[in-house]
Amino acid sequence: MSNEIILIAAVTVDGFIARHSNEITRWTKDLHLFKKQTMGHSIIMGSNTFNTLSNELLGREVIVVTRNDNPKEIINKTSSKKCFIAGGGKTNSRFYPFLTHIYITPHPHIFGKGIKLFSDQIGELELLFEKSVEVSKEDGIFQYQYKIKKC
Ligand SMILES: NC(=O)c1ccc[n+]([C@@H]2O[C@H](COP(=O)([O-])OP(=O)(O)OC[C@H]3O[C@@H](n4cnc5c(N)ncnc54)[C@H](OP(=O)(O)O)[C@@H]3O)[C@@H](O)[C@H]2O)c1
Repeated sequence: MSNEIILIAAVTVDGFIARHSNEITRWTKDLHLFKKQTMGHSIIMGSNTFNTLSNELLGREVIVVTRNDNPKEIINKTSSKKCFIAGGGKTNSRFYPFLTHIYITPHPHIFGKGIKLFSDQIGELELLFEKSVEVSKEDGIFQYQYKIKKC
């Protein structure tokens, strides 16, 4: 099992990750960071997200989950040091009990409706700030990295 299970996402200021389930994401500015941070590690994503990808994620083990997969079993099988949970909202909710870190990049958009970071109800989590990484200073976009405090 990976040492770190990291949720990685770009969100709007009102907490959405997409306008709808099959949106091809074109509004995010942190793709270069996603590539750098996930390279050599495992990435877990839901089938809807996988279907929106236009490029293969080379150099990373990509695990696409469906409703028949058991999240705990999937996590137990991961072997890279870090395992990234890369959406969408449904998958983020299903894997939330296993998260150790969250890397979140708020973007200057408000969608008003859409797919939430966690589309199903989850419990509260307490986050400890670790660091921020500049994405685009002129656009005011930074990635915030948090460790999840285990209660
Ligand atoms: N901004 C970002 O950082 C970011 C990151 C990732 C994705 N996204 C966006 O998120 C959107 C997709 O999110 P999403 O939440 O619709 O999909 P998703 O999490 O990518 O995929 C849906 C997952 O939920 C499962 N599922 C469906 N119904 C279920 C049920 N009743 N019980 C248990 N599991 C069930 C699906 O399995 P089946 O295959 O069996 O249906 C699949 O594994 C896309 O627009 C994508 O572009 C944005």
